[in-house]
Amino acid sequence: MALFKLQQDGLGIDLGTSYLVISDENGKILVNEPSVVAIDINNYDIVAVGAQAKSMIGKTPDNIVAISPIENGVIADFESTVSMLAYFIKKARPDFSLFQPDVCMCVSASLTDVERRSVEDLALNAGARSVKLIEENIASLKGIGVNVDEPTGHIILNVGAGTIEASVISLGGIVTSYCIKNGGENIDQDIKQILKKKFGVNIGISTAESIKIKIATLNSDRENNTMIVGGTDVISTMPKSVEIRAKDITPAIIPVADMCIEALKKVLEKTPPDIANDIMKEGIYVVGGVSLIDYIHEYISNVLGMKVIRVDNPMECTGIGIGKFLKKGDKVRG
Ligand SMILES: Nc1ncnc2c1ncn2[C@@H]1O[C@H](COP(=O)(O)OP(=O)(O)OP(=O)(O)O)[C@@H](O)[C@H]1O
Ligand SMILES: [Mg+2]
Repeated sequence: MALFKLQQDGLGIDLGTSYLVISDENGKILVNEPSVVAIDINNYDIVAVGAQAKSMIGKTPDNIVAISPIENGVIADFESTVSMLAYFIKKARPDFSLFQPDVCMCVSASLTDVERRSVEDLALNAGARSVKLIEENIASLKGIGVNVDEPTGHIILNVGAGTIEASVISLGGIVTSYCIKNGGENIDQDIKQILKKKFGVNIGISTAESIKIKIATLNSDRENNTMIVGGTDVISTMPKSVEIRAKDITPAIIPVADMCIEALKKVLEKTPPDIANDIMKEGIYVVGGVSLIDYIHEYISNVLGMKVIRVDNPMECTGIGIGKFLKKGDKVRG
């Protein structure tokens, strides 16, 4: 083992709307935590970060607020995001006070130049020595193990907490991309509304998310699966639990599934014929946490008449891939 190292190893960072993943140049995950910070509004001190802050959502006293500083893939609260990222960089590299890491960060292909500069400033303020930006869907493909630099076209759909982005990629670059600012968090909000209107129960956003994760399906064979849900009665405000069926929340899922199809159609319309030929043979890679919804692959495949490829680690592949862009000799497009 080297006794002294002059340069810090780099970090790959996927700063998502709901999860932040940091990896090393081999794609080994060093941090995987919710993008949440809890702040004491009396003095703006950070009280908790990541999983601990997420567990506080909906349960904090009046002076503490748990916030997600990234909204729909865009930095909504710069200062909180800097504090959160600095904390996680330190967690990934405990010897960081001596050596600042070079970082590669994922960005949506739809970000404006101003938003891109803001991501660079964010990383530099959080302690990075240098920062390179890589489009998220290119990083995801690399994380899946696809050779992105070959002259072969690929199509990928990323359905995260706050963004739905479809991209066609060839020769390590974006051929065409389309992003809709919607995703898993919108499903949670809609589930909350359904429970309120149909069952007269107010539930917290974390409960809405757990309903989605446990019973959401687009398969009619499983639409009668049930779950007991706890919250408060809309009128009496007393604690109340109700039994819901998977089909009760389908109206919250369908709009997002349809937006996935819309995004894919937009990029397919703009795909040059030779690349379209590659894509038809290979199929559509689908990544992001929302792709874990039961039967969403089949739903997309049935509407578009194309093969849809399930990947092993849809929530981590972007974070794994971004780290691999740090490897010397690999192309990095800044
Ligand atoms: N098993 C599951 N079924 C359905 N949804 C899930 C499941 N697991 C996680 N999710 C949802 O996936 C979303 C998180 O996915 P992901 O980590 O890909 O998003 P992100 O990268 O943080 O967001 P974005 O890329 O939009 O900025 C959350 O909305 C979460 O509730
Ligand atoms: Mg993401």
